[in-house]
Amino acid sequence: MAKKSSQATWGGRFSAGPADLMLQFSESVSFDHRLAPFDIAGSKAHAAMLAHTGLITAQERDAIHAGLDAILREIEAGKFAWDVKLEDVHMNIEQALTKRVPAAAKLHTARSRNDQVATDMRLWFRHACGMLGAEILGAQRALLAVAAANRDVLIPGYTHLQRAQPVYLAHHLFAWLEMLERDRSRFAGVAAQANWCPLGSGALAGTTLPIDREYTARALGFVDAKGRPQVTQNSMDTVADRDVFIEFATACALAGVHFSRMAEDLILWSSAEFKFVELPDAFCTGSSLMPQKKNPDSCELLRGKSARLQGNLHTLLTLAKGLPLTYNRDLQEDKPPVFDSFDQTALCARVLAGTLAGMTVHRDRCAAAVADPALLATDLADYLVDRGVPFREAHHAVGAVVALAEKQGVPLNLLPTADVRRLHPGFGPDWAEVFDLKRALARRRGTGMPGPAQVAKQFKRWGKILG
Ligand code: ARG
Repeated sequence: MAKKSSQATWGGRFSAGPADLMLQFSESVSFDHRLAPFDIAGSKAHAAMLAHTGLITAQERDAIHAGLDAILREIEAGKFAWDVKLEDVHMNIEQALTKRVPAAAKLHTARSRNDQVATDMRLWFRHACGMLGAEILGAQRALLAVAAANRDVLIPGYTHLQRAQPVYLAHHLFAWLEMLERDRSRFAGVAAQANWCPLGSGALAGTTLPIDREYTARALGFVDAKGRPQVTQNSMDTVADRDVFIEFATACALAGVHFSRMAEDLILWSSAEFKFVELPDAFCTGSSLMPQKKNPDSCELLRGKSARLQGNLHTLLTLAKGLPLTYNRDLQEDKPPVFDSFDQTALCARVLAGTLAGMTVHRDRCAAAVADPALLATDLADYLVDRGVPFREAHHAVGAVVALAEKQGVPLNLLPTADVRRLHPGFGPDWAEVFDLKRALARRRGTGMPGPAQVAKQFKRWGKILG
């Protein structure tokens, strides 16, 4: 095998460079190049700290800053030549800087790629959590618009996928809003976990040089609500820790589960059997064989992507579980699943918003489904409870009424009163008034219930939260 020149940044003790196959195997620049803006921000803060503590001069700092700014502009313009021989984003940028600025040789003073990559990723997580929060907010706004446009629509709520009790469609959609709101707050929580500065931890044991970790932390905005710098508290933990990666992937996986459950409802609702909604053509596809088909592909992919998001989480858990402290090269494999989770979660939120925005509600079908009087069987039991009958006895009596209706083949509310009274003396002449849907909903007054007053309150609440 031909001898390669040894690697410029760490090649001092090597007489030969890596094999081509090893380069191909070990490079990460093909995926970690997206860390460039964060890597450059971290390097600028580090250089500023080095100047602040007298480890480099102000001129050297300024030259490094100007060089890094120029490199970032090149990267953003797509003109930067990434080189896999330089392994990763960190070494590509450092080498490019070294070619332009002699002082670049001092940039890596009191720093290792181990605390550097930890810093880049924490900066990236703060950014990524903010982006995903905004994408989810977009989906929530689309949901609120559907609810507002169909304020008076009632549908059956389901358990076991069997019609259970009537609810406003808005109440069902508000359940989705709650799920997404927890996702948003989870991402805010992950951003808070990420908000600690690793720089100064070095490879694993800090540095002998007189650095100022708090200065760097402040420069990168790793501060608490009062502006006090937050620096990580153990150099070994700092370079080995991948908790934030796992927490981020967890938040994505859980958001994916939520998207998937909403998608499943939409798939059911758009089927001919339900036909509560019509999904927009723009987010459906046809069949290459069956001309009549309109398939809910966006929703099915939302369901499918959730599996992928869970897979990414699992990859990270497994990656971390067997590693001895501290950094091991295995950890380079932490980035593809995290980036994929970010990309796919952002896409899912956007596709969900688009699907909802173009969706129409078939009010007639919803009205027909919710007209089934059996949905108010529980209300009939409550009617007996109101008249002093213990709930278990009331439940039993209404069960008998349901059975009788089934046997006679008539809707529950059309049974002769005499027959119903024979099943329990608690049923009065007004027993069938229970089957008035409006009245049934109006009685559900408590917080979190689907009654009209509560739904109105939730419209106000969500309007405020979602802006
Ligand atoms: N590309 C590496 C990663 O993503 C950077 C850290 C390398 N550190 C090392 N000691 N080889 O993990």
